Amino acid sequence: MKNYDTLIFDLSVKGRRGYTLPKSSYKDVVLPKKLLRPAKPELPEVGELGVLRHFTNMSFKNYGIETNMYPLGSCTMKYNPKVHQELAALPAFSSVHPYQKDKDTQGLLKMVHGLQGFLSSIAGMAEFTLNSFAGAHGELVGLMVMKKYHEDQGNTQKTNVLVPDAAHGTNPASAILAGFNVVEIASNLDGTVDMDDFYSKLDDHTAGIMLTNPNTIGVFERNILEISKAIHDVGGLLYYDGANLNPLLGMARPGDMGFDIMHINLHKTFSTPHGGGGPGAGPVGVAKHLAKYLPAPRIKKEGDHYAIDWTLAGKLGQISPFYGNFGVYVKAYAFILTYGKDHLSEISKMAVLNANYVKESLKDVYELPSKALCKHEFVFNGLKDKSTHVTTLDVAKRLLDFGFHPPTIYFPLLYKESLMIEPVETESKQTIDVFIGVLRTIAEEALTMPDFVKAAPHTTIVRRLDEALAARRPILTYDQFKALDSLA
Ligand SMILES: Cc1ncc(COP(=O)(O)O)c(C=O)c1O
Repeated sequence: MKNYDTLIFDLSVKGRRGYTLPKSSYKDVVLPKKLLRPAKPELPEVGELGVLRHFTNMSFKNYGIETNMYPLGSCTMKYNPKVHQELAALPAFSSVHPYQKDKDTQGLLKMVHGLQGFLSSIAGMAEFTLNSFAGAHGELVGLMVMKKYHEDQGNTQKTNVLVPDAAHGTNPASAILAGFNVVEIASNLDGTVDMDDFYSKLDDHTAGIMLTNPNTIGVFERNILEISKAIHDVGGLLYYDGANLNPLLGMARPGDMGFDIMHINLHKTFSTPHGGGGPGAGPVGVAKHLAKYLPAPRIKKEGDHYAIDWTLAGKLGQISPFYGNFGVYVKAYAFILTYGKDHLSEISKMAVLNANYVKESLKDVYELPSKALCKHEFVFNGLKDKSTHVTTLDVAKRLLDFGFHPPTIYFPLLYKESLMIEPVETESKQTIDVFIGVLRTIAEEALTMPDFVKAAPHTTIVRRLDEALAARRPILTYDQFKALDSLA
């Protein structure tokens, strides 16, 4: 068992105790037989210090934003102020029951109403619903709004949604789930829409288009106003995938670009960590003429009174039980207030500056297909010198030896060796410089000792996995580990 840590059961010594309960003063309590265990439970017998060290050491095995940089492109993993977590956990927020009367929850409703308003003005939309649980869920709700709108207009021929080939995978999936056909449009090398292909696919069947801007390569879509006009001219709608709003905050608004529907991932931009399976929220915003389609419940203000309105159910009804993930709203609201209206743009300026700094510092050793100024993220196509056949996967694995989480790899599919980096706005120059230095070292190693890079990682508990076997026959139990180890 050299390579793997012990389980708490391996530390067990018969009779050892961490804590002994005082003798019970209740005598002869006889439980019904059906409630009794047939045999004693197999619990580990470990001293207090043993337990403490075991779990403390285990907790150090986690990689997180608290331990080092997390430069995942598209999956924004940035530091989020812990104070917002504490706010969300305050009993006034966490102990409220969804059925509590409006009159007793005025402060909370005011906050939700305020957040709807903040998001509307940040994004240039008329109305927002907060209810969706995630980005992909928001997309589905937005596409359902698009569908209802066309049904109401009698646009039965509008069956197609245009989606660029570089789009996040959730985009075509959401369009199909909402009942549309997906028509793929080609992208240029910098991820922008290939306008010839766009016009060749645009017709009377076009219900709308789904775009993210800046696009998946991190480049701003220069033709957005032309695209917007063309889609509206055929009676279609524009959907904006606002999962990554960091680079636009306080600088540009999807509504002003002509988008009609959008979602925002609060769990990326607004103070909730992305990933990890925790709660998220994908609020959906719409232009004025679509507000009636937003799902219930809506929080409305009548004079000084805030009320939950279930009658504003639009045509979608309800898409989540009650109001979605309330704690996430508290964090987002606090985050926006912490920065204030005049300072939100600092987030976007730092996100863009950091990404361009990393890009420019590495472009002599990593292949950069799009030379354009990037926004919050950018994509290399593997190493510039590919003569030693070191791949993006090798680079990612070698990064683990230096204590860095790898960037997103092999997405987007536009390039064969995609290495997608998003340094985010919260990293210091010192940390970013170390990251750049490590990537330069790896590029050098790739030329001088390629076999060593190809065999990475060298320092992790588990080395390079057989990816196919790991997916098909995963080793999930400690006994399986042990069996494998005894064969070694
Ligand atoms: C561009 C884009 N769209 C949509 C999503 C989906 O968001 P979620 O993971 O919350 O469903 C993501 C997630 O990373 C994304 O990057």
